Amino acid sequence: RALLHNDLQGDEVLVVSNREPYIHEKTPNGIVVKRPASGLVTAVEPVMRACSGTWVAHGSGSADRDVVDANDVVMVPPDHPTYSLKRVWLTREEEEGYYYGFANEGLWPLCHIAHVRPVFRVSDWEYYKEVNRRFADKVIASARTDDPVILVQDYHFALLPQLIREKLPRATIITFWHIPWPNPESFGICPWRAELLRGMLGSSILGFHTRFHCKNFIDTVDRYLETRIEHEHSTITLDGRETLIKNYPISIHWPDEQEESAWPETEECRRMLRRNFNLSDSHLVAIGVDRFDYTKGILERANAVERMLEKHPDMIGKFSLIQIAAPSRSSLDEYRYFQERLSRRVEEINRRFGRDNYQPFILLAEHQGSEILTRYYRGADACIVTSLHDGMNLVSKEFIACRNDMQGVLILSQFAGAAGELPEALIVNPYHVEETADALYQALTMPEAEQRERIRSLRATVRERNVYRWAGFMLQDAAHARRRERIEARL
Ligand code: G6P
Repeated sequence: RALLHNDLQGDEVLVVSNREPYIHEKTPNGIVVKRPASGLVTAVEPVMRACSGTWVAHGSGSADRDVVDANDVVMVPPDHPTYSLKRVWLTREEEEGYYYGFANEGLWPLCHIAHVRPVFRVSDWEYYKEVNRRFADKVIASARTDDPVILVQDYHFALLPQLIREKLPRATIITFWHIPWPNPESFGICPWRAELLRGMLGSSILGFHTRFHCKNFIDTVDRYLETRIEHEHSTITLDGRETLIKNYPISIHWPDEQEESAWPETEECRRMLRRNFNLSDSHLVAIGVDRFDYTKGILERANAVERMLEKHPDMIGKFSLIQIAAPSRSSLDEYRYFQERLSRRVEEINRRFGRDNYQPFILLAEHQGSEILTRYYRGADACIVTSLHDGMNLVSKEFIACRNDMQGVLILSQFAGAAGELPEALIVNPYHVEETADALYQALTMPEAEQRERIRSLRATVRERNVYRWAGFMLQDAAHARRRERIEARL
């Protein structure tokens, strides 16, 4: 955390993302504050707490407007205000076109290559451009200096860097793309590919999770725009402006001793988790935690559970997967189809192997807060992540952080960015049902000593490569670029 302060040295910091870190909802008992299920928020929020500043986001809660002051600002976190949150209020049409339409029916499937055909409507594109403009206006109006550090988050805002750059040419704009970047052929089907790429190249630094995504991006620019690319330095120059393309693997806040001391013992977590689902104390439990999204490979996970039970009938009645699937973007057809398909598949498996009160696949289509999740992670025998494609995946890192008892096995998709950093997990190809089923069985029967050895190594990695390092490295590169620009301006 000290690193952040050193590199910023009093600079003004603005973050802009679609999703807000705190959602204020009206309930019969007054206003409650909720944390969204979002990898982006999980990662960026601790960084903002550490460096204060302003976070600009789309206001999405029913009471969001009620809590702001005359300047449209609310200080957050509610229990310990350290930074200000400013909202852009979108109309229903803007949200439909920009967020549901272009961002989540177009860019999301385009970048995840999850075999859901992207949809590109001209009307969605118009809203996407308009909302990017509105966010640019808000950020520009919020800046107090002419050279702030602006952290633009994700695929909702590909056009924002260039729009901000036009008005604040001296700003240091760091854009982080939280989802994968596909190869040029795949990206090339987007009718507005050149506009998107130009918009992103307004950034001083453009970050992706992995080197592979950076390479795909550089190849895509090479294919569709006239620029100068310096592979040696990983920079792209467009119209005389240079952008550094670099990988910064995102991570989580690593819990300190005080936070850990508030956690119940793992034995208590084991009992609580099992009692909550009417399972015996010796029942084997794997946990899955995802947004209810077709990219997360939950259907493939269900197939693997089924196959594991076919191969190892002794596990029937003794093992369950508890799957928390937080409903997400449910007004989109593809999400609804997927939710229905998965529910049907789970029913089939439970009908086939379930009995009395026993269900091998327990599906909970609900959002859980971090306190409960910590207990579930600590109480489970294994955690399973089978994304078909994922920028990073922070569930895997959160599970590791919770296991200070040095037990528990992580099963991790080779198509999640995290797989590159966490080779001591059981790495699987989720499309390979047999392999995933075998990994699940291996996890459930793994000797304690081997679990300890693997998790110890995983913990050392995530402890060191925490989210402050992620932000620190980006800011260090930004500070470097700023110093260089100031020197050049004097020449
Ligand atoms: C992914 C995206 C984030 C997004 C999150 C939740 O992690 O990269 O930008 O916040 O999903 O999705 P939602 O659409 O609910 O914000």
